[in-house]
Amino acid sequence: MKRARIPEPYKIKMVEHIRLLPPEARRQAIQEAGYNTFLFRSEDVFIDLLTDSGTSAMSDRQWSALMVGDEAYAGARSFYRLEEAVREIYGFPYLVPTHQGRAAEHITAQLRIKPGQFVPMNMYFTTTREHLERAGGVFFDCIIDEAHDPQARHPFKGNVDLEKLDRLVREHGPDSIAFLWLAPCVNMAGGQPFSMANLREVARWAKDQNIPIILDATRAVENCYFIKVREEGYEDKPIKEIPLEMMSYAESITMSAKKDNLVNIGGFIATRNQDFFQAARATVVVFEGLHTYGGLAGRDMEAMAVGMREMVDDAYIESRVEQVQRFGQALLEAGIPIVEPVGGHAVFIDAKRFLPHLSQDVFPAQALAAEIYLEGGVRSMERGVVSAGRDPKTGKHRYPKLELVRLTIPRRVYTDSHLAYVVDVCRGVYERRDGIRGLEMVYEPPQLRFFQARFQPL
Ligand code: F0G
Repeated sequence: MKRARIPEPYKIKMVEHIRLLPPEARRQAIQEAGYNTFLFRSEDVFIDLLTDSGTSAMSDRQWSALMVGDEAYAGARSFYRLEEAVREIYGFPYLVPTHQGRAAEHITAQLRIKPGQFVPMNMYFTTTREHLERAGGVFFDCIIDEAHDPQARHPFKGNVDLEKLDRLVREHGPDSIAFLWLAPCVNMAGGQPFSMANLREVARWAKDQNIPIILDATRAVENCYFIKVREEGYEDKPIKEIPLEMMSYAESITMSAKKDNLVNIGGFIATRNQDFFQAARATVVVFEGLHTYGGLAGRDMEAMAVGMREMVDDAYIESRVEQVQRFGQALLEAGIPIVEPVGGHAVFIDAKRFLPHLSQDVFPAQALAAEIYLEGGVRSMERGVVSAGRDPKTGKHRYPKLELVRLTIPRRVYTDSHLAYVVDVCRGVYERRDGIRGLEMVYEPPQLRFFQARFQPL
């Protein structure tokens, strides 16, 4: 007899009811939201795959940790507990908490980038690039070419192309680079990991040039799981050992705790650079709060410390990433064009192949996200030309090679049967794809436009 696969290493203690609106109400909801899934009321959504950010289900231990939060303004016990967890799991001695990831990015960008300096990243993330550009930095994409091809089956599409970095240094010199801002499980590439071998090589190169590496460690542990299952030499290591090696190549990290760390709010900077630590502490008090809470309640820091230890449980991380893999496989079997290989936190539908009759000027991924909602109340997110925004120099749309719809899986929230329903919904949209029209943008905010832009069907 074949044994069933090992199921989730948890059971459900509390539930939240959800309901599917009838088709006419869904049509009204999407119109009111200006065809932008960020503008829904969440009550109008049945299955919410907008993001894995802050949407995790906390464990009973995290909920009970909330009760022992120390809400002292200064020097709270909860801060020291979090600091201890960061030292244990990530290996950095210094911690500056922030209310979420972009606040850590803001402080890092302001302190570490001189106007005109390049900041190479393995592809980009929306808020990170926004902050680096606000600080006067110049974004430089150093990811391997395969990352821009949704069908390239490279196991580590998040890898850095050292040739590209070499060329940049040859042309402008190492001083023109503020630091390398690299992300594990590159979100905009489809949740694609980098390999430890690649990071090691980049770190050696960066050391020779005296260029620091700052990791956006938001989904580092999910990346470590891919290293464990795809890279030689890691298969027998407990997951907990892998982040420590990864972090050893970085000077600092910026972090959105709302993902890997299994909490609903939180972020931080962690570093081994004492000068940066001191400067970040001095800055956090202006924008976030005192340096021992940085915009968080004591209870938030307690829940984060517990979540950090839960995320490096081997059974948890396997069940998390493998659920996403199964979901991607089921979409492929339904004939839906997706980014391959499937990433760690989401499955990305390739809107260019799904809707080949629509040009990027009519926002195919935005239109597809609206159709997926209309079909079955499933909320997804555009990750294409709308998210890419405008070039700060020319003011023109940036046309990314990847025009994607992200179906993002919150951690410990949905069962495989919820996801089987989503596969059916996508199949339904796929069957009527030829009749789907594009959109026109009727309102566009000046920055991070994807959050609030409004659209109208053409
Ligand atoms: N870095 C990465 C790689 C992210 O994915 C995010 C957020 C941030 C930084 C910013 O963190 O939201 O805590 O301020 N990503 C969310 C998403 C919003 O849906 O992918 P934040």
